[in-house]
Amino acid sequence: ASSFQHACTHDPESNRSDEDNADINWDDLGFGLVPTDYMYVMKCSQDDTFSYGEVNRYGNLELSPSSGVLNYGQGLFEGLKAYRKGDGCGFLLFRPEENARRMQMGAKRMCMPSPSVDQFVNAVKQTVLANKRWVPPQGKGSLYLRPLLMGSGPVLGLAPAPEYMFLVYASPVGTYFKEGLAPINLIIDDEIHRATPGGTGGVKTITNYGPVLKAQVRAKSNGFTDVLFLDSTEKRYLEEASSCNLFIVKDNVISTPITRGTILAGITRKSIMEIAGDYGYKVEERLVSVEDLTAADEVFCTGTAVVVAPVGSITYQGQRYAYKTGIETVSQQLYSALTAIQMGLVKDKKSWTVEI
Ligand code: COI
Repeated sequence: ASSFQHACTHDPESNRSDEDNADINWDDLGFGLVPTDYMYVMKCSQDDTFSYGEVNRYGNLELSPSSGVLNYGQGLFEGLKAYRKGDGCGFLLFRPEENARRMQMGAKRMCMPSPSVDQFVNAVKQTVLANKRWVPPQGKGSLYLRPLLMGSGPVLGLAPAPEYMFLVYASPVGTYFKEGLAPINLIIDDEIHRATPGGTGGVKTITNYGPVLKAQVRAKSNGFTDVLFLDSTEKRYLEEASSCNLFIVKDNVISTPITRGTILAGITRKSIMEIAGDYGYKVEERLVSVEDLTAADEVFCTGTAVVVAPVGSITYQGQRYAYKTGIETVSQQLYSALTAIQMGLVKDKKSWTVEI
């Protein structure tokens, strides 16, 4: 029996057995949607604040055809994970207040009211508890939580919507890329850009993601895992991949592109910078140019969905640069340190995890 089947000693109410877990193949999780039982929904009008939310059955939404989100893309999303604790009792969230604050910043940019940090974290906790049979056994993955904030009320002329909906749904997930934990291969797209100065690249608006699909599909059809974007002004500085941040390693120095409004300030990015500092690396946030890639020893990507993904190669203008991968790498060391905290395998000295 794996550890999640063990009875809880401190909470007899939550004793679990095989029957308590959803009947799916836990060895087969990737990053596809597995619909779960419940979602959290909270609504408010434009000039109001969110006050009351509830857990509903998971299912389709009723939305005005002229809603702000459908017509003008007034929407934000977040992503965070819940891990089942090793003793089988309870769950761990990783820095959920950071997601809440990022949603608040994004909401300001997109002219939307946003839930308070407490409301956000509470909604996420309730969504986990309502769907607890979908939290994978330890070592098999996590429950991915997807908070959404959208202009749900009707508009015709361009304006902020009169009503807003905040919701959280969940899906069990395993690794993000089809490569699993194996190195990924990236291509730099020097035609399509993800973000522009003054735009919304630094916040998690839904409108940052649709426009990169063309580059992503093109990269995949050419055999690459994902695409890396360059800054749109000089086409020289690395920004991020379509779903994750980027780090390069050279000797004892770990560098990541400075955000400056065009790069998403990832929570995994921030955590990895701190962990790397603790391990004695010199950590730099700076402009990282395509030339820096030629000199790098290692490259890796970070994100909530991606966690820490080693990059085996980057192709730029027909030239392929290869990087060190495997067990003796910095990325592997940082991956292990981060996931040990997230999964509750080590003492959380930084108080990053929130127990449910
Ligand atoms: C996440 O890592 O949680 C994200 O929001 C990226 C998404 C494209 C999967």
